[in-house]
Amino acid sequence: MERTIIKDIFTHPELLGQEIEVKGWTRTRRGNKYVQFVALNDGSTIRNIQIVLDMARFTDEQLKPVTTGSSLRVRGKLVESMGKGQTCEIQADEIEIYGTADPETYPLQKKGHTLEYLREKAHLRPRTNTFGAVLRVRSTLAFAIHKFFNERGFVYLNTPLITASDCEGAGAMFQVTTLDLNNLPKDENDRVDYSTDFFGKPTALTVSGQLEGELGATALGAIYTFGPTFRAENSNTPRHLSEFWMIEPEVSFLDIDGNMDLAEDFVKYCIGYALENSREDIEWLAEMYDKDLISRLEFVLHNDFVRLTYTEGVKILEESGHKFDFPIYWGADLQSEHERYLVEKHFKKPVILTGYPKEIKAFYMKQNEDGKTVRAMDVLFPKIGEIIGGSEREENLDKLQQRIDELGIPMKDMWWYLDTRRFGTVPHSGFGLGFERLVLFVTGMTNIRDVIPFPRTPGNAEF
Ligand code: 4AD
Ligand code: MG
Repeated sequence: MERTIIKDIFTHPELLGQEIEVKGWTRTRRGNKYVQFVALNDGSTIRNIQIVLDMARFTDEQLKPVTTGSSLRVRGKLVESMGKGQTCEIQADEIEIYGTADPETYPLQKKGHTLEYLREKAHLRPRTNTFGAVLRVRSTLAFAIHKFFNERGFVYLNTPLITASDCEGAGAMFQVTTLDLNNLPKDENDRVDYSTDFFGKPTALTVSGQLEGELGATALGAIYTFGPTFRAENSNTPRHLSEFWMIEPEVSFLDIDGNMDLAEDFVKYCIGYALENSREDIEWLAEMYDKDLISRLEFVLHNDFVRLTYTEGVKILEESGHKFDFPIYWGADLQSEHERYLVEKHFKKPVILTGYPKEIKAFYMKQNEDGKTVRAMDVLFPKIGEIIGGSEREENLDKLQQRIDELGIPMKDMWWYLDTRRFGTVPHSGFGLGFERLVLFVTGMTNIRDVIPFPRTPGNAEF
């Protein structure tokens, strides 16, 4: 008999009255000597199917191994349920136990574990309602992202994970080497001799696919990347991971205004898609963790983002009279508290800030005529702060070269990037969306470690 996925039971009323077979994991078992009830979940939906076991047909001995976490196959008739909390249930004819889960040692035996406890059990937490819901929403969002770009003719470009260039210039990269760290080859100046390393030069895990993305955009017109990125910053915050996923569209013939439109359309599309296609999971998360979640998502969906310059933003912050932990002045890098003040207190809407001082932004951003600011854009969200960072790119070879010199970026490493400006240069723009920050926003979770299956943070790479 073909297995029925539990999610399909609730969307296929024609299954009522039929004999079906389900497979999954026991969430709970309760009952008495006449009848026993098993709540079975197979990961396809937040909902469990109730299995009714008539104890005239099963023995205590037979059901003893059916404890929380055990895995089962059940065959029986799907009938309407008299009990509250479910519409239908399966009257079991046959039950097979695939694997037991000793109640003495199974870490998810109890209900209602804290998120902190579950982080320690990251290998098993996908079996909980919370992580099942979060991971399904995450998957829906990933699909929405591909759908959005595919519908608009963007080419999905895979950029390398191992690279010799530091895109963001922050210097926080994980080195990749096959050299014997206990016996490093040295040159005449007693520095490590990388000519014998795997790639013949120092390499690291990428912090962004943007530079290679620009190579794609200046050939294919519009591309996007969607892959893991790595940052070795020692940031222990609820919004930073050492390994996170980023989506980076890059578009030729697009200026900063078009870039803002694209970013706004893009996040709204993803949020709308998740609300439509992951409704049950989002409702469940809202109920459990964040009663305002759905209204917040709908608010973002139906309101224009506020657009203003960094200079205007700093003025608002300076005049706010609010006491910030980090001082605010023109030229300061905005901290999360500043971003959230603008979004949550002042405008009460998502904000797109543009025209940042060039000193606090990356070398590739297009310089404004004022000589001080660049065409950067950060999209700031309630509860999250920065969710997107991007810019129009400096397409003028001389200006770009000058900025590279000012910052002392080794030119010989950048020759291939500069070729985009040397040959058929065009105005172009792009941005990066932190995938986990989007998942945080849509699920209403508050710690980024809880929206990625296996979080990598400083000191943590167990699972
Ligand atoms: O602002 P960032 O550093 O921009 C770039 O990397 C550009 N190359 C993007 C581009 O223009 N193509 O990072 C982009 C986004 C941030 O807005 C944030 O959402 C996310 O990536 N992000 C992180 N997410 C989780 N953990 C971290 N450590 C993150 N660092 C950045
Ligand atoms: Mg940024």
